[in-house]
Amino acid sequence: MAYNLLKGKRGIIFGALDENSIAWKTAERVHEEGGTFVLTNAPIAMRMGQIKELAEKTGSEIIPADATSEEDLNNLVAKATEILGGKLDFVLHSIGMSVNVRKGRAYTDEKYDFTAKGWDVSALSFHKVMQSLYKADAMNQWGSIVALTYMAAQRTFPDYNDMADNKAYLESVARSFGYFFGKEKQVRVNTISQSPTPTTAGQGVKGFGGFIAYADKMSPLGNATAQDCADYTVSLFSDLTKKVTMQNLFHDGGFSNTGVSQEVIEHFTEE
Ligand SMILES: NC(=O)c1ccc[n+]([C@@H]2O[C@H](COP(=O)([O-])OP(=O)(O)OC[C@H]3O[C@@H](n4cnc5c(N)ncnc54)[C@H](O)[C@@H]3O)[C@@H](O)[C@H]2O)c1
Repeated sequence: MAYNLLKGKRGIIFGALDENSIAWKTAERVHEEGGTFVLTNAPIAMRMGQIKELAEKTGSEIIPADATSEEDLNNLVAKATEILGGKLDFVLHSIGMSVNVRKGRAYTDEKYDFTAKGWDVSALSFHKVMQSLYKADAMNQWGSIVALTYMAAQRTFPDYNDMADNKAYLESVARSFGYFFGKEKQVRVNTISQSPTPTTAGQGVKGFGGFIAYADKMSPLGNATAQDCADYTVSLFSDLTKKVTMQNLFHDGGFSNTGVSQEVIEHFTEE
């Protein structure tokens, strides 16, 4: 069902790689709600992904940008406001990548240039995106900026590796930049802490199959899907959440506040 929640609103959506991506589902949902946007991804990902198909479907233009490059981001912000015909109302940062995870390095055996690269892509890029928007004064009053995160920022999940540290940094940037964006420009900044979701990035985590099934059994409402996340993000981009800012918002079917579930107890009960 569509509610026209984003009619007349303009934005940028980072991170749609394929139809499983959280950003892909969000772009479709934002389009349904009347929002217009520019799609962006790293130039290298664009060749792999099917982003053109999404652009056609949603009447959007694509502007490649490596989210670690200030030059690319400044160009993206300038072009997006030009194409869309004004300042922006929403931005989705849906970007994550750990080189240590990709190369199979354990948390206790990090290669630090891999660590630095993963941090730049997954965490510092959020600061870079916001600094670029802030300096260009590219956000409208009561605009909304959202980034995706995971609960490994608060609790340990061994196979999440250095992404846990990246997410902790990302969530801190949301609070810190949220203060300045709120004070100076009446723009809100939040992170959504999403359930495990079967996407390219998600499935890169070791043991993902068992992990997602466990989370589902631990969550009273079951895991939140990418589609559910798209719905939630639309609500945060809408005018119905104007005073929500500097928050890390758990979107996980109740997982984060559940100690144990009946299903998990039964699994360990010996008859
Ligand atoms: N899948 C999960 O289980 C899960 C759970 C919680 C949070 N998240 C977060 O959701 C976000 C989106 O991930 P997803 O699960 O949709 O996976 P995905 O693989 O579809 O998306 C990750 C995106 O990051 C992009 N990216 C990588 N390097 C980049 C760079 N240098 N510049 C610009 N873009 C770059 C990729 O091209 C890709 O589009 C990530 O922040 C991820 O950590 C995912």
